[in-house]
Amino acid sequence: MAKIRVAAVGCIHVHEQTAGHFATLMEKVNDEADILLLAGDLTISGSMDEALALVKELTLVKIPTVAVLGNHDHESSLSEEVAELLRSNHIPVLDGTCLTYEIDGKKVGIAGTKGFAGGFEGHVVAPFGEKALKDFVHAGQRECQKIEEALTDLERVDYKVVLLHYSPVRDTVVGEPAEIYPFLGNSHLAVPIDRLGAAVIFHAHAHYGTHAGRTPGGIPVFNVARTLVHNYMVYELE
Ligand SMILES: [Fe+2]
Repeated sequence: MAKIRVAAVGCIHVHEQTAGHFATLMEKVNDEADILLLAGDLTISGSMDEALALVKELTLVKIPTVAVLGNHDHESSLSEEVAELLRSNHIPVLDGTCLTYEIDGKKVGIAGTKGFAGGFEGHVVAPFGEKALKDFVHAGQRECQKIEEALTDLERVDYKVVLLHYSPVRDTVVGEPAEIYPFLGNSHLAVPIDRLGAAVIFHAHAHYGTHAGRTPGGIPVFNVARTLVHNYMVYELE
């Protein structure tokens, strides 16, 4: 049986002045993959004009396409409108939710959420002290709950795939300045994923990080920021 090919890329940062550029990068994706995952930061500032430009760039993509938003897509406080525009153009946007596709007789489940900052391993920031800091920590904890809920809803699939914007592991942010690691992801995201299981995890956000890593439980993690992959990564599920 043919392997299921998952294409993934993030941090594509489409805006009005990049017209045609991303479409060119996607030219071969219909032949090279069975499904395309977009790991957030799809625009520069999350404006509706940028979101419209993004939709236009994706018109040539004929394989199922699933997205999560990134921090850049929230910058104009129009994330709901941006997500709705994508959804109305047949690009589901996951936010603590999941979807199942049948590909070559196999069920592939995609669970996704944006994720958030917070830090890694023994150094995740704790909710102590000022309210502002607690709010920051709680935003990260909520994203961890969301990926747990999305994975819990994925029952009886052959493959579970996790799509995030922020990193769930330190491995794939290495290469960025160490001072900003805590803003690139949160190790607590990996906890429910390791417990509930997944075949692979994709994220972006750390443009100068490392392409491949693993969760403590051994699940492969790929940073698919466009700076680190050639157009997009293609991963074969097996
Ligand atoms: Fe980002």
